[in-house]
Amino acid sequence: DAIEKGGFDSFMLKEIFEQPESVHNCLRGRLIAEKGHLQLGGINKYIDRLLYAKRIIILGCGTSWHAGLVAEYIFEELARIPVEVEYASEFRYRNPIIYPDDAVIAISQSGETADTLAAIELAKSKGATIFGVCNVVGSSIARATHEGAYTHAGPEIGVASTKAFTAQVTVLLMMALMIAKKRQNVAEAQFSELLYELESIPEKIAKTLKINEEIEKIAHIYQHSSNMIYLGRGYNFPVALEGALKLKEISYIHAEGYPAAEMKHGPIALIDEEMPVVFIAIKDNSYEKVVSNIQEVKARKGRVIAIVNEGDNLISSMADHVIEIPATYDVLTPLLTVIPLQLLAYHIAVLRGCNVDQPRNLAKSVTVE
Ligand code: G6P
Repeated sequence: DAIEKGGFDSFMLKEIFEQPESVHNCLRGRLIAEKGHLQLGGINKYIDRLLYAKRIIILGCGTSWHAGLVAEYIFEELARIPVEVEYASEFRYRNPIIYPDDAVIAISQSGETADTLAAIELAKSKGATIFGVCNVVGSSIARATHEGAYTHAGPEIGVASTKAFTAQVTVLLMMALMIAKKRQNVAEAQFSELLYELESIPEKIAKTLKINEEIEKIAHIYQHSSNMIYLGRGYNFPVALEGALKLKEISYIHAEGYPAAEMKHGPIALIDEEMPVVFIAIKDNSYEKVVSNIQEVKARKGRVIAIVNEGDNLISSMADHVIEIPATYDVLTPLLTVIPLQLLAYHIAVLRGCNVDQPRNLAKSVTVE
């Protein structure tokens, strides 16, 4: 067991720290920035169905659904195709409208989630083309789809998904970029810059992981909290959901993720000096808006933990704690912002004496309804 954990205290921590390598493995052979090369070998025969899709429907559950939400923002921005993201369990039972020219992307780490598999079969029966984004090679979902791209993240043992999420987002980014290029929605120069930046993301993830000890200190302060709110906007709204899910899953602290602007329509009522609020407040195109959301929380005496870009003095002067991460292009930020949230959940759970690898009541893969 100790050998399998490679010197880490748990599989989850090992898997969090594996992310520079797992994202690199996911990119390997598929992206060569210097040559302007981007190719997902598994998506060849049916690529036109994706390229000319009137609509993309993304299906998944849990963390995979969150990766799908990130992909919605990415696909719509880069590929300019309308996207709907659905919980597989809801989709399959609500008599969904599916057209033969819909492209469906099914996301699943295990490739065995019963609801996702059933949703695929339903979409397939209506003539849609199904693309899989799975981690486990040869899994049921991988076999049920028309085509797909594996995430190549390696086996994920910890029940709370970490490296599978970043690998899923990486594959979905590559898919969106491929489509954007073929549809001529991105200029050559922009495409090339994005390839270079994506190629350097594993290094930036490694750099982000250096904040681990700082996060552990913050975890000491908030380990006894009974609630936590996570806020983000744009590409990082789904990351806020994912951060809250991680905390719930392994520390059993009640947490909610929200788009930061929705705070005033409900969650703001919960804010007092007892309420820690985690903000994803990096310098993207919603930065100014997030800054004013932070002010609203501080005005109500909430405790603010902010994920910021290196050297952000403005937010440092407002927040109770800042966690600095490297800058990258807006579309790539989820690959970095999720890392401190995984670590925060991890350390809080460990301090509370929880079994992070096998949290109570949860299964790694839900193969029954
Ligand atoms: C379970 C796991 C989650 C996972 C979800 C979807 O709930 O505990 O970590 O995100 O299933 O699993 P999948 O294998 O389809 O990605």
